[in-house]
Amino acid sequence: MSEKVIFDADIAPLKDKVVSVIGYGNQGQAQARILRENGVDVIVGNVRDEYWDRALKDGFKVYEIDEAVRRSQVALLLVPDEVAPHVYRKKIEPEIGKKEHFVLDFASGYNIMYGFIRPRPNTDVVLVAPRMIGRGILSLHRQGRGYPVLIGVAQDSSGKAWDYAKAIAKGIGAIGLPGGIAVKSSFEEETLLDLLTEHSWAPLLIAAMQAYFDVVTEEYGASPEAAILELYASGELAEVARAMAEMGLFEQMKLHSRTSQYGQFTRARKFYRMVKEVVREEAAQIWSGEFAREWSLDQAFGRVVLQRLWKIVTSSRLAEAEDRLYRQLGRR
Ligand SMILES: NC(=O)c1ccc[n+]([C@@H]2O[C@H](COP(=O)([O-])OP(=O)(O)OC[C@H]3O[C@@H](n4cnc5c(N)ncnc54)[C@H](OP(=O)(O)O)[C@@H]3O)[C@@H](O)[C@H]2O)c1
Repeated sequence: MSEKVIFDADIAPLKDKVVSVIGYGNQGQAQARILRENGVDVIVGNVRDEYWDRALKDGFKVYEIDEAVRRSQVALLLVPDEVAPHVYRKKIEPEIGKKEHFVLDFASGYNIMYGFIRPRPNTDVVLVAPRMIGRGILSLHRQGRGYPVLIGVAQDSSGKAWDYAKAIAKGIGAIGLPGGIAVKSSFEEETLLDLLTEHSWAPLLIAAMQAYFDVVTEEYGASPEAAILELYASGELAEVARAMAEMGLFEQMKLHSRTSQYGQFTRARKFYRMVKEVVREEAAQIWSGEFAREWSLDQAFGRVVLQRLWKIVTSSRLAEAEDRLYRQLGRR
């Protein structure tokens, strides 16, 4: 496969197969429903809880995870990344071991990149990673639109792994529709891009908003309500993000006033110099596996760091003011 971007593909590799969707959460629900609409024989594997019931209500045949894998030739592993290695070891690997060949699809590169899951040699290991939350996938699908995915192959046991990756991208409604695009990638590239978003501009946005809130309310007497509306509650930020997606990062700047353009461009240069080294360090920690080890350690200790951080942010002045405002706005 030489093309870097793919706009359509043949779904045929899935047509004579049973495809199990393992995990009926954000991604699982969206992907299972669209696959079924596209004529694929889909079953769901889940633990017996409310998601099991929801899949039944949506008209799927639902099985215990090992049973679903037993009944299928292709599985989409759509459980959270931190539980996937355990689910794979206990429920999936023993079943794949009994088969001649299997196709295992991931929606994120994390567990393969860091070796937390090491599939058997009889397995095609493919990546079809949506750049879209599950809810967004369904809403775009209702409008007859596709969405971007990164696709990759970590192990090609059949010689047809790329065909399976492309067929899955087509089956889950990513390509073959306006707005849809699959970019040839790898488990490593997807993990780097995904985690570096979470370790660079996304936390920078949170930190900048917190600093902004503290400075204007503590040092300039601004009202918390006005500050929070300015920051994100008005929905203006969402509109700007949409304009970025539709028009491009710099083209959308023409929608802002000249004062705003001047302020943003001059300050962006200052911040670029401040953050580039930090971004470089974060990328290196992701690439070397240092972050994955750090996060695994916190999970092994019952996620104490994550829980403490939740406590700190939810008891901040910003969170308290937001709660008051959102109650007044009827959003809570
Ligand atoms: N969130 C997104 O929109 C998004 C976007 C792109 C890629 N992805 C990727 O998609 C994959 C799935 O993420 P998600 O956000 O869709 O997951 P999710 O909604 O949090 O959960 C998915 C499913 O996993 C099940 N599950 C949770 N813990 C389990 C356990 N210990 N044993 C067995 N099943 C368990 C859940 O069932 P119960 O909770 O009922 O147990 C649920 O059915 C991940 O690889 C993620 O990186 C997600």
